[in-house]
Amino acid sequence: MNEKLQAKAASILALKERARRRLPKYVFEYVAGGCITDSAVRANRESLEKLKLQPRYLGTAKTLDTQCNLLGRQYNLPLGVAPIGLSGLIWPRSGEFLAQAARQANIPFVLSTVGTTSIESAAKHAEENFWFQIYPPPDDSIRLDLIKRAMEVGCTHLVVTVDVPALGRRPRDLQNGIAIPPKFSIRTLAQSAMRPSWCLATLATGMPNFANLDPYLGDIKGMKNRAYYIRSVLKDVVDGNLLKRLRDEWPHKLIVKGILTAEDARTAVDLGADAVWISNHGGRQLDPAAGAISVVREVAAGVGGKVPVLADSGVESGTDIVRFVSQGADMVFAGRCFMYGVAAFGQPGAQHAIDILAAELEQTLSQLGCASPSEAAQRLA
Ligand SMILES: Cc1cc2nc3c(=O)[nH]c(=O)nc-3n(C[C@H](O)[C@H](O)[C@H](O)COP(=O)(O)O)c2cc1C
Repeated sequence: MNEKLQAKAASILALKERARRRLPKYVFEYVAGGCITDSAVRANRESLEKLKLQPRYLGTAKTLDTQCNLLGRQYNLPLGVAPIGLSGLIWPRSGEFLAQAARQANIPFVLSTVGTTSIESAAKHAEENFWFQIYPPPDDSIRLDLIKRAMEVGCTHLVVTVDVPALGRRPRDLQNGIAIPPKFSIRTLAQSAMRPSWCLATLATGMPNFANLDPYLGDIKGMKNRAYYIRSVLKDVVDGNLLKRLRDEWPHKLIVKGILTAEDARTAVDLGADAVWISNHGGRQLDPAAGAISVVREVAAGVGGKVPVLADSGVESGTDIVRFVSQGADMVFAGRCFMYGVAAFGQPGAQHAIDILAAELEQTLSQLGCASPSEAAQRLA
């Protein structure tokens, strides 16, 4: 743990407050916001906080082991970095910083199709901890090329996100012009000018671009035209047929992200998924979605141990990771926590966010009398 950073921010909520002060308002709203009324964002937190865990103080003392075996690899924690689109808008080079920190901490780093770090660069920084998330383009040549590029850099875990059949309708982003194509206004430019460290970092790095999709833009000129083209390339529903095609095209581990029901989980497994990832996209897609943790038991029972269960949405502490694990998740991911870390402190903030979550995870497990994350199951009030 970096003691200097800890003295300034010792929790994810403290990182979030620091991020709020360092980011232009419209950028902070892009990260923190949810769909329509934010009901799903609130549901994630309410359902997590409702879940109580029971300690055992008088058993035999055990040595704590937080390692997690998942899909043929051993990680140091049951924790991973979830994919974030437009990450370079939030903080320049955040994708690289998080990829490096994930490798050092030995946890998975998942790069978004619409991230601003390329597959090649993220893989260089994350090495064997590199996973790639795909919004599968219906255009065969683009989809197959993305897959080929992922394979060429040695990626063995492909995450296909299925919970964006329609673009999330996030009112603040629409008002602020955070959309494809982006629209900058006097208001957003003024908000940027009030955040000098973000402006300096952005000026030093240059405007973020969709690094993974750039090679397919050919000679389409102008930000607006390029953004419209990208939108048309990615626009599609991932139905069973597309998932099946992807299964045939990808020879390694395939993980289906955005599952909220046992029925979808079983369908994904029947179509060849190696793991399912429970998520409501951090409350950004379906306003009346259930809090993600509230469906973990049902989904885990639905897949009946055939494949591992991954989960995210709403994590704000290491304790929340234990809560997810207690319900049957094998690995837990977080999105915003890590972005707040980097926004709060730049590059060292990536490691600091991981360190905070790891310390809280260990403290909670010790307090519960659990020697490992999997022992945390059965500790429900
Ligand atoms: C700003 C932002 C951008 C995101 N972009 C993507 C994306 O490109 N692909 C994806 O599968 N999920 C994306 N997600 C969802 C995250 O991968 C993850 O499911 C979510 O952040 C988990 O909730 P949490 O932020 O409360 O931890 C995004 C989330 C945020 C906050």
